[in-house]
Amino acid sequence: MAIALSAQGRAASSPARWLTPELFWPELDASTAALETPLGVLHLGALQFNAHDMVRRAAGKPIRVATKSIRVRSVIDALLATDGYRGVLAFTLPEALWLAEEVDDVVVGYPTADRAGLIRLATDERLASRVTIMVDSVEQLDFIDGCIPPGDRESIRLCLELDASWRAAPPLGNIGVLRSPIFTADDAVRFAREITRRPGFTLVGMMAYEAQIAGLVDDVGSRAAYSAGMRWIKRQSVSELSERRKAAVEAVRSVCELEFVNGGGTGSLESTSADDSVTEIAAGSGLFGGHLFDNYREFRPAPAASFALSVVRKPREDTATVLGGGWTASGPPGRDRLPQVAWPQGLDMVPREMAGEVQTPLVGKAAVRLRPGDRVWFRHTKSGELSEHLNAFAVVDDGTVIDTLPTYRGEGKAFL
Ligand SMILES: Cc1ncc(COP(=O)(O)O)c(C=O)c1O
Repeated sequence: MAIALSAQGRAASSPARWLTPELFWPELDASTAALETPLGVLHLGALQFNAHDMVRRAAGKPIRVATKSIRVRSVIDALLATDGYRGVLAFTLPEALWLAEEVDDVVVGYPTADRAGLIRLATDERLASRVTIMVDSVEQLDFIDGCIPPGDRESIRLCLELDASWRAAPPLGNIGVLRSPIFTADDAVRFAREITRRPGFTLVGMMAYEAQIAGLVDDVGSRAAYSAGMRWIKRQSVSELSERRKAAVEAVRSVCELEFVNGGGTGSLESTSADDSVTEIAAGSGLFGGHLFDNYREFRPAPAASFALSVVRKPREDTATVLGGGWTASGPPGRDRLPQVAWPQGLDMVPREMAGEVQTPLVGKAAVRLRPGDRVWFRHTKSGELSEHLNAFAVVDDGTVIDTLPTYRGEGKAFL
């Protein structure tokens, strides 16, 4: 059965249960009582809420589905069938080729060095018309030519990536992620000219992902000064980037026509949609609603994806140990990368062990009542990485499991 995310009327009629944890988690627990752990769950009402809230925040700009943040094929398909979503941003070339069997607009969001994938792409007219790959240097063009010469291939669709980080004055320095060497409008236009001069390539798009705006939490309850600092950084960076991106897009458009200019992410839907030079926004994490996104001022996603682990032993009266738990998120290591214990409330990890590979002791008042066989509910920090630990998600709607959806991993597709 295919899930539907475009249930307009329903979102209004079904109460946002997740706002009341005392209702939401026990209901989820009861609905899935017959299933074994580790158990991944998607709450349909919460998914629908997130899908529509992201469209609202994108304010008329189409959302390109960032598949790395989902990694469940049927959820991606459901989004593409929902108003406001168009095309996907894949994370590897093999994934893009797999998706392109069905999806006609696939951009690979990161450069590739996959020789076999490039040859497949370049020798299949249909794939070559559907898949666009990311480039930011002449060396990458040479690499592609080395895999398959221009005379032997279809023209390869390219997207030019502009670096979106903010080069602040010292002592702040570079704020953002190190992505592309192309930073200025001059860099961009020079590279665009080189692409259009060379046979076997068609420049169709530009992308500039503002990680330092989309990815930084800016409303951490216990850290008011930090949050104010983050909001200040975001404001400076938005104003610097909107000028620079506009100039770069105009310069490249003077060289060739562009089908799209991609920007942003879940955390920056408001500011990216306000940037006139951007035609679409890539986003995905906000759909599952990892707990990272609990700390943003502009929005609050519902906890649509969660997972349950079973208590298997009690080393002490006040300690309940669950099997598993070490599903940590990528990025700078820190407490915020660990799964959050969502239910029962009042449980904490033990500082000397934290989330373990095979077991996670939990302490706190609620641990006293827990017994082997009871379940504890968690939320992942991010979104798509959770799918790499599960073969499938159970979908819960109105207190019932209505479907089981395989993850990429469950389909034998561990792309990265
Ligand atoms: C190129 C690109 N665009 C957009 C995003 C935003 O994705 P999400 O909305 O899932 O955070 C990312 C995330 O890393 C990205 O790398």
